[in-house]
Amino acid sequence: MAIEDKLLELLEKRQKASLGGGQKRIDAQHAKGKLTARERIDLLLDDGSFEEFDMFVTHRCTDFGMQDQLYLSDGVVTGHGTIDGRVVYVFSQDFTVFGGSLSESYAKKICKIMDQAMKVGAPIIGLNDSGGARIQEGVLSLAGYAEIFERNILASGLIPQISAIFGPCAGGAVYSPALTDFIIMSQKTSYMFVTGPKVVKTVTGEVVTEEELGGAMIHGAKSGVAHFVAEDEREGILLIRKLLSYLPQNNLEDPPVIPCNDPIDRLDDSLNYFIPDNPNKPYDVKTIIYSIIDENEFLEVQRHYAPNIVTGFSRFDGMTVGIVANQPNYLAGVLDINASRKAARFVRFCDAFNIPLLTLVDVPGFLPGTAQEYGGIIIHGAKLLYAFGEATVPKVTIILRKAYGGAYDVMSSKHLRGDINYAWPTAEIAVMGPKGAIEILYNKKIQEIADPAEREDFILNAEKEYKDKFANPYNAARYGYIDDIIEPRNTRFRVIRAFQALATKKDTNPPKKHSNIPL
Ligand code: HXC
Repeated sequence: MAIEDKLLELLEKRQKASLGGGQKRIDAQHAKGKLTARERIDLLLDDGSFEEFDMFVTHRCTDFGMQDQLYLSDGVVTGHGTIDGRVVYVFSQDFTVFGGSLSESYAKKICKIMDQAMKVGAPIIGLNDSGGARIQEGVLSLAGYAEIFERNILASGLIPQISAIFGPCAGGAVYSPALTDFIIMSQKTSYMFVTGPKVVKTVTGEVVTEEELGGAMIHGAKSGVAHFVAEDEREGILLIRKLLSYLPQNNLEDPPVIPCNDPIDRLDDSLNYFIPDNPNKPYDVKTIIYSIIDENEFLEVQRHYAPNIVTGFSRFDGMTVGIVANQPNYLAGVLDINASRKAARFVRFCDAFNIPLLTLVDVPGFLPGTAQEYGGIIIHGAKLLYAFGEATVPKVTIILRKAYGGAYDVMSSKHLRGDINYAWPTAEIAVMGPKGAIEILYNKKIQEIADPAEREDFILNAEKEYKDKFANPYNAARYGYIDDIIEPRNTRFRVIRAFQALATKKDTNPPKKHSNIPL
């Protein structure tokens, strides 16, 4: 064969591979409002940067007439490319080939790029759209999933792993994303479940739609499985690019620093008057976050889930910082099971990838009651305690208002190796709020006072005494548990100075096989 013919053969094979399961199925994919595997990669990566691997791979199954149904690439497009000039590895499942279901060869393709991403120290991105294990391949497909899971586990904490869900993901197809750091789901076209509605109906009799069982908002707001809910696939893909801009390539590198055009000493006078006089009045902690960060850019993680705590990435003087903030606007910012789990996972991600932590505290305590106790708030609350206590990245904490009880300890206090702990003058640091404290301290005495007016007077005086002692940051500052009390309007500058000072911080945990976080 002449070289011209050989080149033509190559071109034809490439063209054939690019059509996946064929034009008809591509049209069906588009009709559902979905992009194809290759279109998604084109949108995700810098123009012209994609280098594809294993385009000529086909499956090896000979059962169920499969030998006559061979598609180049076998249902998954894999390779590497760049995002903002930085190398990433990517796999993109092709629903037009056997519903994106996973075969032995398909799993090998994914494993190959996962292995290389780990060796190179580059993030791995999975664009998922799959009917799960390829039924015709039986155990070979199950084995393939487990090979991927093992690599997800080994890569955890080594390189960032990001999963986008852009179609149905059932069975094995949900567990690999669950092992990665972030899950992004697109509205209306994606869903995730271990077993679909048909199986649910057979086993439990429950009738439920795919959307109700595992739609984007269900996982974004209810289960907390999804970290981001995107309007559509395009928004989801842009979100991946944005998320990566905050992250280092691997656990041995620092996050990228970008030029900052926002003055570091910018004052915001309104912050001095921001905390309401009434300690029970809520406010939106995001107003404070947006006021102090660079250029109003905050990428909130798990926005719809456990809104009583806010987590997300931002920058101070161009440096990536992970922010954890109690949200008084929702359940008074109380710590409950969901909030504890959400923040603990975020803190551990930041610590694994050298991202400093800023903690903004206004928390009345842990949520009391049987629902929380039966649900295991003790274990789940301990997760957050554990995560902050084990983290060795620079930790800056600001107590804005309430820091009551165990929640004071948990929220990156000095005692959990907080590096720089500030308070606003509005801070109240105590075992509990004045009302509860007086009831416990003087219960007997209050009962003994017969005259209601006299009783009221006694309570007011006792509360005043308690507030004078504890409803301020000075008592904690006296013991050095607060490094300084800062003027709210100057918070941005003080935070930046703190992180600048801590930039070279080195701290370690004792050597061990691994820790045993309360799961
Ligand atoms: C082989 C599959 C397939 C699968 C879909 N297809 N899933 N082929 N193995 N798992 C094929 C279909 O035969 C069809 O082929 C094409 O993909 C598109 O599928 P449709 O059903 O027509 O599409 P749609 O109506 O959009 O429904 C998509 C779907 C549904 C919801 C994903 O196909 C489905 O429920 N599939 C099975 C899901 C599942 O239970 N998977 C196994 C999970 S167990 P043609 O030729 O007609 O285009 C598992 C074990 C791992 O994953 C556990 C590890 C922990």
